[in-house]
Amino acid sequence: MKLLEDRIRQDGQVLGADVLKVDSFLNHQVDPDLMTALGEEFYRRFQGVPITKILTVESSGIAPALATGMAFHKPVVFARKHKSLTLKDHLYTAEVYSFTKKTANTIAIAEKFLTAADHVLVIDDFLANGQAVEGLLDIIQQAGATLEGVGVVIEKRFQKGRKLLDDRHIHTEALASIAAFENGQVVFSPDEKE
Ligand code: G4P
Ligand code: NA
Ligand code: NA
Repeated sequence: MKLLEDRIRQDGQVLGADVLKVDSFLNHQVDPDLMTALGEEFYRRFQGVPITKILTVESSGIAPALATGMAFHKPVVFARKHKSLTLKDHLYTAEVYSFTKKTANTIAIAEKFLTAADHVLVIDDFLANGQAVEGLLDIIQQAGATLEGVGVVIEKRFQKGRKLLDDRHIHTEALASIAAFENGQVVFSPDEKE
């Protein structure tokens, strides 16, 4: 998606060997007009798929997931990473390991917000090693819901997440696909969708 690639070229910062900092429009400060455009693009790419619910993980997945829910007019549920006073019982949980932080986190979704009747579109900001998405897939399975696809704003093709989803024949859409970082610059994969 050209709009997003241009924004990444303009405002993204490559940190070290494998991290892209996009905190001026996605991960800390959020650009609502860009989010609206991303949501509409996910809608276009998953048009005709019978989606009943958008699923993400707090915190950085929420902005693009909400924009997508607004395009589909479907509810958005975000898995929580922290224990909550009001979220204690009747939960689906999954362990998510972060290679970046070398820690494991438990994510949780209340059972009442995901059922066997749901057809789910998973949305996230980054697809890196795919551990967050794996955790959501585990929860979708526990609920007996149907996974219809995965949409990520930015994928890093050189990490193992995309292959993991492709190996399972999951319909995956990335709005910006990064092949590599070279000399502090982003090299995008060709976008077949445009
Ligand atoms: P995964 O989500 O694909 O499993 O990736 P990984 O374990 O490698 O990443 C852990 C966290 O780092 C995730 O956020 C993920 O979105 C984020 N991340 C991965 N690669 C990048 C990158 O190149 N740039 C940025 N800005 N973030 C990246 P999280 O811990 O779930 O945190 P948050 O959603 O609360 O921000
Ligand atoms: Na994330
Ligand atoms: Na993040």
